Amino acid sequence: MARFQFCCVFVLVALAVLAVNPSSSYRFTIVEPKSGSDSDLDSDSESLLFHQDYSPPAPPPPPPHGPSVSCSEDLGGVGFLDTTCKIVADLNLTHDVYIAGKGNFIILPGVRFHCPIPGCSIAINVSGNFSLGAESTIVAGTLELTAGNASFANGSAVNTTGLAGSPPPQTSGTPQGIDGAGGGHGGRGACCLTDTKKLPEDVWGGDAYSWSTLQKPWSYGSKGGSTSREIDYGGGGGGKVKMDILQLLDVNGSLLANGGYGGAKGGGGSGGSIYIKAYKM
Ligand SMILES: *[C@@H]1O[C@H](CO)[C@@H](O)[C@H](O)[C@H]1NC(C)=O
Ligand SMILES: *[C@@H]1O[C@H](CO)[C@@H](O)[C@H](O)[C@H]1NC(C)=O
Ligand SMILES: *[C@@H]1O[C@H](CO)[C@@H](O)[C@H](O)[C@H]1NC(C)=O
Ligand SMILES: *[C@@H]1O[C@H](CO)[C@@H](O)[C@H](O)[C@H]1NC(C)=O
Ligand SMILES: *[C@@H]1O[C@H](CO)[C@@H](O)[C@H](O)[C@H]1NC(C)=O
Ligand SMILES: *[C@@H]1O[C@H](CO)[C@@H](O)[C@H](O)[C@H]1NC(C)=O
Ligand SMILES: *[C@@H]1O[C@H](CO)[C@@H](O)[C@H](O)[C@H]1NC(C)=O
Repeated sequence: MARFQFCCVFVLVALAVLAVNPSSSYRFTIVEPKSGSDSDLDSDSESLLFHQDYSPPAPPPPPPHGPSVSCSEDLGGVGFLDTTCKIVADLNLTHDVYIAGKGNFIILPGVRFHCPIPGCSIAINVSGNFSLGAESTIVAGTLELTAGNASFANGSAVNTTGLAGSPPPQTSGTPQGIDGAGGGHGGRGACCLTDTKKLPEDVWGGDAYSWSTLQKPWSYGSKGGSTSREIDYGGGGGGKVKMDILQLLDVNGSLLANGGYGGAKGGGGSGGSIYIKAYKM
């Protein structure tokens, strides 16, 4: 503990030297810090040292997608992904799917294409047109869509609300304790309890899930806490939606990545991420 503080004091001193002497960035004066003890630190530097968010190193990139599923055998659809595949009836998926081909992928009006499992990922990569028909819904933790064109008809929805998957390693993701705290997206979530007897880190809400940026958001929201040890009332974190459309994207439906509702006995989850790139929208 004492060594850690010593090291940080040294780094702060080195930065200060750099700041007052910007023209000589290569000529460092090594300043030996005074042999410090806790009492040498004023309250400002103490809060700098201990109360900022901790950002762990980024995890390794995810593994590449496996082979594509087939239109008729795996999805109960009609046709082929290299020409046109149409989903004509409701489907409840129970695991991640990767749907890829050189053709079109069409979900007909009124069809429910669902994988309502936290963290379930639906990845679609077609060279032609993607279309989600009127009043149709895609429900999953993650939707990743790459297509030539994409259209979302009136009343359709991509709904990843409350379906975030597990937090990445190195973060807890979930508020600890039973204070009913809220989830957090880019930082720690808020707590609904004011308890002066606890340290701030013990009453924070959900941990940051992310190493994504505001320019390219790609992280789940985190869960809300519960007020009970036995029952998990917390709302789930919001999911992730990413679209990369080469030509035209036409959205008349909803794209949702809200945090789940925690009710009266739980904290709400925090929102997830929506990232859209298209030549024309
Ligand atoms: C999918 O699951 C929902 C909810 O469990 C159920 O109501 C519906 O009948 C299922 N649909 C199919 C096609 O299995
Ligand atoms: C989509 O598929 C093409 C090959 O057809 C591949 O080059 C590309 O990397 C894939 N994109 C994603 C996001 O998986
Ligand atoms: C996609 O739809 C457009 C019309 O909206 C059509 O001109 C085009 O041929 C379709 N693409 C494919 C690969 O069928
Ligand atoms: C996208 O749609 C336009 C018409 O809106 C069409 O000309 C073009 O061929 C489509 N692209 C693909 C890859 O199907
Ligand atoms: C979206 O609504 C506009 C205006 O009503 C309409 O022109 C367009 O065709 C609709 N697109 C889709 C994909 O439903
Ligand atoms: C779009 O759908 C909503 C209900 O989902 C309906 O109230 C509205 O009239 C529809 N608009 C069009 C242009 O079809
Ligand atoms: C999205 O999902 C949430 C949670 O299941 C549900 O409460 C909400 O009504 C859904 N919204 C739409 C537009 O389907």
